[in-house]
Amino acid sequence: MRRKIIAGNWKMNKTPSETVTLISELKPLVDNKDVDVVFCVPAISLTTAIEAVKGTNIQIGAENMHFEESGAYTGEISANMLTDIGVKYVIIGHSERREYFAETNETVNKKVLKAFEHGLTPIVCCGETLTQREQGVTIDFIRQQIKIAFLNVSVENAKKAVIAYEPIWAIGTGKVATTEQAQEVCKAIRECIAEIYDQATADAIRIQYGGSVSGASAAELFAQADIDGGLVGGASLKPDFGKIVNYNK
Ligand code: PGA
Repeated sequence: MRRKIIAGNWKMNKTPSETVTLISELKPLVDNKDVDVVFCVPAISLTTAIEAVKGTNIQIGAENMHFEESGAYTGEISANMLTDIGVKYVIIGHSERREYFAETNETVNKKVLKAFEHGLTPIVCCGETLTQREQGVTIDFIRQQIKIAFLNVSVENAKKAVIAYEPIWAIGTGKVATTEQAQEVCKAIRECIAEIYDQATADAIRIQYGGSVSGASAAELFAQADIDGGLVGGASLKPDFGKIVNYNK
């Protein structure tokens, strides 16, 4: 039985001092021993957030990192900078990073490899545009994203990965995918992992759905056979995140 993982993606929201306030508000609301809870916060607030969640079951994740070890990459943050302060997870290849910061399947793959090299768990994002869905190429497109993201990733590491399926048309739009649409793609992702590796790896890997998840939609989504939790944007900054984390109560 895969353990559910529910992660908040704060995006470019909240200053470090606002982070302290929000975490103290959310802490009592996200206490669910049955699930892994992760807050992915802006890089500048990582240290503050790690301090603020001490003594709770909440883990802290970054929203991005660079694929090189160190060097002349002004403005970037490396994997070992993240692990040095106690970061456990890192979102890789979010559609906003692909759209606005020129991330590609190839850079996603390099980042996934680097994250594993340093013992970070990547939350590997994939998802189609509305046009791709309408053209009927969703599964082809997602399979390509997954196959490239996992190039040269060992079977042991693949088992530990988290994949977030986030249809771009559902992100921040209030337009959540239907449970059937979300389950169909998450199932296809698991089948793709089984093809690349084996059934045991496919059974172990955790696949989240993301895109306008709310307290109202979480229970039905997370009840699907291939959906092991969610990557939550807007609602992760609100008390509603407590309802999402406690979807099973
Ligand atoms: P949303 O964002 O929940 O606000 O749609 C999800 C995400 O981008 O990870």
